[in-house]
Amino acid sequence: MVIDKLNIDTNDKEMLAAEEQRKITANRIKSVLSKKHKVIKIIANEQIGENLRKNKLDIVFNLSTGLRGESRQSQIPAILEMLGIPYIGSGILAHGLALNKAVAKKLFRFHDIATAYFQEFYTGNEPLDPNLKFPAIVKPACEGSGFGIHKDSLVFDTKSLYKQVSKTLAKYKPPALAEEYIEGREFTVGIIGNEKEKIILPILEIDFRNVSEEYDRFNTFESKNGLGGSKQLYCPAILSTEKKTNIEKSASMAFDALRCRDFARVDIRVKNNIPYVIEINSLPGLMPGYSDFPKMAEAAGMTYEKLILTILETALKRERSKKIQRSKSYEAKVSMAYELLKEKQKQQEEIV
Ligand SMILES: Nc1ncnc2c1ncn2[C@@H]1O[C@H](COP(=O)(O)OP(=O)(O)OP(=O)(O)O)[C@@H](O)[C@H]1O
Ligand SMILES: [Mg+2]
Repeated sequence: MVIDKLNIDTNDKEMLAAEEQRKITANRIKSVLSKKHKVIKIIANEQIGENLRKNKLDIVFNLSTGLRGESRQSQIPAILEMLGIPYIGSGILAHGLALNKAVAKKLFRFHDIATAYFQEFYTGNEPLDPNLKFPAIVKPACEGSGFGIHKDSLVFDTKSLYKQVSKTLAKYKPPALAEEYIEGREFTVGIIGNEKEKIILPILEIDFRNVSEEYDRFNTFESKNGLGGSKQLYCPAILSTEKKTNIEKSASMAFDALRCRDFARVDIRVKNNIPYVIEINSLPGLMPGYSDFPKMAEAAGMTYEKLILTILETALKRERSKKIQRSKSYEAKVSMAYELLKEKQKQQEEIV
């Protein structure tokens, strides 16, 4: 497995919380996989190419969010592909797309998947799009785990929108996004599988109704880390069959639109019966007892061990079918070349 290097020098509370979660997750996944396989941990650092090469690896469980840069989550998949090592989870393209919420939302629109209206800010001096309605939520486009999403991210007027945009741009890479705030029930959907063979885990609802403060009725960094108001989680969410089907359909379409692989989690808010895709997590948190994904698996009757092994099997199945396809297309190419050669020989014989 490939894991991120612990950034122990930081004092940033967002970073520290994420590092701790990653450490617990990696240890647990290693202990699950070690029961049946030989597992080694490889740190995602500048020397990773050499470390991957010298160990004879059958498949890599990639848990790395990358080292740095705009599409950092694609870095380890890119190295693994370059070295020809199969790996579990989304590929270079999907991670790059999912990590940029603005690009992902444009793709959702193209595929007719509802998503909140938004504007991108690179400098903070851009004039406000007159079609953007308030309240709006301001967030960094290329972050996850609730980074940069706090109470004051919800803004009700132009002045606070710009204040929040410049605050976001001062800490995170551009662009900052200002999105129409979708007032409605919030769900998250876990998917395991590929193409037509997907398992959609029981939908998890994050219920903010008991949260007293208006500003707190969304998933802030604080509420994700147990510091916010009393939000409640329900899994499976109570939904009519029709609503459940609509949410599942949007989640599955979003997964395919970004070409995700093996497993991912889609965040959705529903307003006027329309599921709006907020974002897709191509590398969703897998921390036992904490992350949404294992909670959804548990509601489906899957133990943590079963969840990890199912993800592994999904990736192995995909890799196997890729090989079969490759060999089929290789055979087809060979027989086509043979037919062409025969045809040419025949023509030459006729000329002679
Ligand atoms: N357009 C929106 N309308 C309503 N709420 C929103 C919107 N965008 C974000 N939110 C709220 O903010 C939360 C965090 O947003 P988002 O999922 O984009 O951030 P994240 O940091 O990528 O989260 P994650 O922890 O899932 O990686 C959402 O779960 C939701 O509660
Ligand atoms: Mg989210």
